[in-house]
Amino acid sequence: MIEESIKKSIRDIVDFPKPGIVFIDITPILKDQNLCSNIVDAFVEELKDLDFDAIAGIESRGFLFGLMLANKLNKPFIPIRKAGKLPYTTIQQSYDLEYGSAVIEVHADAFKPGAKILIHDDLLATGGTVEATSLLIQKMEGIVAGFTFIVGLEFLNGKNKLAHFSKNIYTLAKY
Ligand code: PRP
Ligand code: MG
Repeated sequence: MIEESIKKSIRDIVDFPKPGIVFIDITPILKDQNLCSNIVDAFVEELKDLDFDAIAGIESRGFLFGLMLANKLNKPFIPIRKAGKLPYTTIQQSYDLEYGSAVIEVHADAFKPGAKILIHDDLLATGGTVEATSLLIQKMEGIVAGFTFIVGLEFLNGKNKLAHFSKNIYTLAKY
């Protein structure tokens, strides 16, 4: 099953980038092209009944499968970036991470008001990153259609921050 394959492939790096943090490293997945295809196919299956217009992927690890999935589904891809990287006019949102705080932004013309946006990231931990992304999409009068994650750390209850944006939360490997 896809969940077992993902869990076998990822590795925990203890005390990275700071003492006390366990970093979930997905880079071994990227070396396995069959697993990458199976992950995209698993998302496609989960999303088959969901109506949405575009996929927003969050820098940087959310770009990897966000773009693959958008391409597979023939949808536009919207990069959500950390502040200072996007060249055109942007809309910003600040957020707290497991470690530190940050600002994300998106191009002001990334999508039209009323667009239904699926948010993708590699990992749901505390939910702060995708919560900020959801707020950003709402600031731009978009509608959050749902969320996809490769890995979800359920014990951190990140879903509690997301449920009021959309109940459509798809996670392939849960801990
Ligand atoms: C990690 C991960 C998610 C986020 C999850 O990204 O890729 O985006 O943290 O944490 P949260 O649910 O507690 O917000 P990170 O900010 O480390 O950056 P990266 O993707 O560029 O490695
Ligand atoms: Mg990230």
